Amino acid sequence: MPPLAQIRRCVCPGSFDPLTLGHLDVLLRAAAMFDVVHAGVAVNPAKRGLFSGPERVELVRGALAASGDPRAERVVVEEFADGLLVDHCRRLGAAVVVKGLRGGTDYAYELPMALMNRHLAEVETVFLVGDPRFEHISSSLVKEVARYGGDVSALVPPVVRAALAARLGENASDQ
Ligand code: PNS
Repeated sequence: MPPLAQIRRCVCPGSFDPLTLGHLDVLLRAAAMFDVVHAGVAVNPAKRGLFSGPERVELVRGALAASGDPRAERVVVEEFADGLLVDHCRRLGAAVVVKGLRGGTDYAYELPMALMNRHLAEVETVFLVGDPRFEHISSSLVKEVARYGGDVSALVPPVVRAALAARLGENASDQ
């Protein structure tokens, strides 16, 4: 690891409510490019999620640990609530945000935020092209599928599947 002042850090922010296989892929790919990846679990106090901030943090940590992937060692998971992403980046000493892009709709959603973060604090955004295997996966669709008893085992890590089953009923893990 380089001296502290030279450590290249990025922040991968998101609601992670809950973490999906697409999120995990982006975190690990970012960890191949940076010394430390800060997975920033954003908790919006105005929005009630399925999982609380601390629960989401635990699920991301659990999925990383269970992945067995050596890149996971470079990912730290933190919650940030009720504040600007650029302030979170500043506190951590990170000048780069990394996000995954599944397609044009994601790009249209992400572009103004990327421009705003650069405007506010010169924080740059690096977009990773989403793995096509995960293109159809979003946290909201995962929750909907799980809620109605669909099979989410190819959409989320096992630890998240178990948490969905516990929260939404056994249907979510039966199939
Ligand atoms: O997973 P999401 O919900 O698409 O993540 C969006 C998130 C949390 C990255 C974004 O809403 C965010 O950065 N929120 C923090 C508040 C902030 O900085 N808002 C201005 C961004 S331009």
